Amino acid sequence: MSKTAILEFDGKKYEFPVVKGSENEEAIDINKLRDLTGAITLDPGYKNSGSCTSKITFLDGELGILRYRGYSIEDLAEKADFLEVSFLLIFGELPTAAQLKQFEVDIRKHTLVNEEMKNIIDGFPRTAHPMGVLAALTSALTAFNPKSVNVDNEKEMYHAVCKTMGKFLVIATWTYRKSMGYPLNYYDNTKGYVENFMRLMFELPTEPYKPNPIVIDALDKLFILHADHEQNCSTSTVRMVGSSHAGLFASISAGVSALWGPLHGGANQAVLEMLEEIHANGGDTDAYLAKAKDKNDPFRLMGFGHRVYKNFDPRAKIIKKAANEVLATLGVDDPILEIAKKLEAAALEDEYFKARNLYPNVDFYSGIIYRALGIPTDMFTVMFAIGRLPGWIAQWKEMRENKEPIGRPRQIYTGESLRDFKKPE
Ligand code: CMC
Repeated sequence: MSKTAILEFDGKKYEFPVVKGSENEEAIDINKLRDLTGAITLDPGYKNSGSCTSKITFLDGELGILRYRGYSIEDLAEKADFLEVSFLLIFGELPTAAQLKQFEVDIRKHTLVNEEMKNIIDGFPRTAHPMGVLAALTSALTAFNPKSVNVDNEKEMYHAVCKTMGKFLVIATWTYRKSMGYPLNYYDNTKGYVENFMRLMFELPTEPYKPNPIVIDALDKLFILHADHEQNCSTSTVRMVGSSHAGLFASISAGVSALWGPLHGGANQAVLEMLEEIHANGGDTDAYLAKAKDKNDPFRLMGFGHRVYKNFDPRAKIIKKAANEVLATLGVDDPILEIAKKLEAAALEDEYFKARNLYPNVDFYSGIIYRALGIPTDMFTVMFAIGRLPGWIAQWKEMRENKEPIGRPRQIYTGESLRDFKKPE
């Protein structure tokens, strides 16, 4: 017999079905709650609310497990490359060698961005934050690609996926070129996706450029680790915007804006700024730990804590190892890494952090790698966005294919009751 949940409310008993996931997670299905009882649930920040069922990513915050389509993040980071993982997330299965090759070829067909997009970039001041520019440019792509995709047509959907993967990478790097005053670069269709990222960013017309393969490998891994994370803030935003049947570019542009905030993807920039500040102030990590614990001080230890992981963030473990390897291989001796390690060790021993299950998250070490690779701090969240793109696409596609209803939460109104209109004296 399937499990149910009983709710007693206003003297009456109601029975609700329980939905079980493939990893035995359980949810009380309250779809009929308002119809039956007249009441709604209240759950600010959605700490207890599932917005959908999904076959894409499984994570268990207590056990520190993260899997894409059933494959462990550890395996994928070690054995797959970013486009392979993107294909897996979006289409549900690992690509065969032929499918992967075709995927790369098809993405390359869409790596040229309309030249008129450059007029839009020209309108931004050079000091504009790259995430603001990226959100605007992604949204602007809608104007150059106005035909909305028919999600029920497999071919059209595949085409839209390749187009988004191709163009987003180019405009993401253009935000950096703009901030530097460099000429905007073109994708080189003879090179791989991640190598192209480095070329698009750093190749100058004045001299030959050869990206370091170690750097490309490290970036590939970082993109994989960021590729999806189930219903986080930006992904929920993408699904929510898409649920009104807004197009893929418009939905992803909204995801970029959601990701920008320092409590979400913006944390990687905030971590590095925090570490630099600690370094500049003499490296006193204890003083910053005390600040983070002080309830009268708004300061939080950036890169620590997670809404879902209450044991450890499996991505942080992989990134910490990668940071050590990359810095050693590139011969970078970075005092910031030492400060990060000192801070991490002290926090892990501290009662405040232990009691609240606060562990380093994915952003704690990623910035150190980006810095070693020569990527400027305000581009860190753009890096996160490039990595997260396949996840956003996969979630948008699933939401449309599942024919989910428009996302429209309710509220409990706590404002004034009806009152007479009278102009203030
Ligand atoms: N430093 C100090 N105290 C903290 C921190 C922190 N980084 N994170 C949480 N706390 C405390 C918080 O003050 C609260 O204490 P109390 O119970 O005494 O009031 C308790 O821990 C629970 O915090 P919360 O804000 O209710 O937890 P949440 O699940 O709503 O927030 C979070 C999760 C990630 C927003 C939060 O931990 C945070 O602000 N961390 C720093 C920002 C950060 O690194 N964000 C990146 C997240 S991972 C990348 C991504 O997927 O976006």
